[in-house]
Amino acid sequence: MTPEQTLPAPSRAAALSELMFPSTPRCLALAAEYRIAELLAEGPMAVADLAARAYVEPGPLHKVLALLTEDGVFEETEPGVFANTPLSELLQADIPGSMHAMARMVGSPWLWDSWGALDHSLATGRPAFRKVHGTALWPWLQEHPDEARMFNRAMTDFTEALSDALVAAYPEFATMSAVCDLGGGEGTFLATILDTYPSLGRGVLADLPPVIEQARKHPQVMPLVEQGRFDFAAADFFSQVPVGIEAYVTKQVMHSWPDAALVRLLRRCRETSPGARFVAAEMVHHDGVARFVKNFDLVMLATMSGQVRDERQFADLFDQAGYRLSRIVPTGTAFSLIEAVPHGL
Ligand SMILES: C[S@@+](CC[C@H](N)C(=O)[O-])C[C@H]1O[C@@H](n2cnc3c(N)ncnc32)[C@H](O)[C@@H]1O
Repeated sequence: MTPEQTLPAPSRAAALSELMFPSTPRCLALAAEYRIAELLAEGPMAVADLAARAYVEPGPLHKVLALLTEDGVFEETEPGVFANTPLSELLQADIPGSMHAMARMVGSPWLWDSWGALDHSLATGRPAFRKVHGTALWPWLQEHPDEARMFNRAMTDFTEALSDALVAAYPEFATMSAVCDLGGGEGTFLATILDTYPSLGRGVLADLPPVIEQARKHPQVMPLVEQGRFDFAAADFFSQVPVGIEAYVTKQVMHSWPDAALVRLLRRCRETSPGARFVAAEMVHHDGVARFVKNFDLVMLATMSGQVRDERQFADLFDQAGYRLSRIVPTGTAFSLIEAVPHGL
């Protein structure tokens, strides 16, 4: 039993109603959008001054900050004066470990609309996003460049925070000639692999053309391009994947797709580079999995025809495409490295 379950009835009702408010993610998104953490980087500030500099109303801003203070995101150092905390500092854009774009994306109307239509997912098992927008998320993002930029930036924020731990867990990259990151977004994960293992020959970033255009400007990617170690493959990975690859990697990609699509992608890799292994940096479902993973599984239900899979489901997928799941490497994060080798190797 959790402590809340043992409370007397009125307190239980209060504990339950606390869970019913969608205020925290919405207020986080607003704090990021109005650059509150950047303004407070200069030091504690009265809410009236803060509101004037953010071009918002002071009363409502006070309510937003008071709520986030409850969660430890900001601190009210004296009545009406707010300061950053180690959590709110991460809402600043363009700092190492920034979660600015992620906070903004979580507040995006397209994601809120999907949550609003979650009953459709519950009744049908299909993504609420498609019901609301009439198409799947990836084609929709290609037609909405502002939202797509925000999405890609959010992925980068998230990946930057994790990449070092993921990459360190797989020293085998050091001896490889070529690694391809499928659906690699702006290229942070692949660039970290190349930076960490200078003896690794080259990396190829495979993603949709607009995402590749964004990746070309990524400051961590540009020097690697100049060194001739970083190539791009702007294409639908279901139609073609780069040749001459020793390991295809993914990060946070497999949970976006249903089984049939993934088997198609894996088979394409198997045919294109028959000796290559697959290294998937993905979450693996298991008993007692962290709340974060359960939340992620729900996001996949609301927005895509995907899911967070368990070890047996990954093994089945790889097996159908001609690979054997050889091991799962823990990384000390919510992500594991799922390694698969071609059958017979
Ligand atoms: C959840 S994001 C992960 C991005 C990156 N791997 C990371 O972890 O930061 C999924 C990526 O898959 C890409 N993607 C989706 N459909 C694709 C397709 N058909 N071909 C190639 N890339 C695709 C998206 O553009 C996006 O960059």
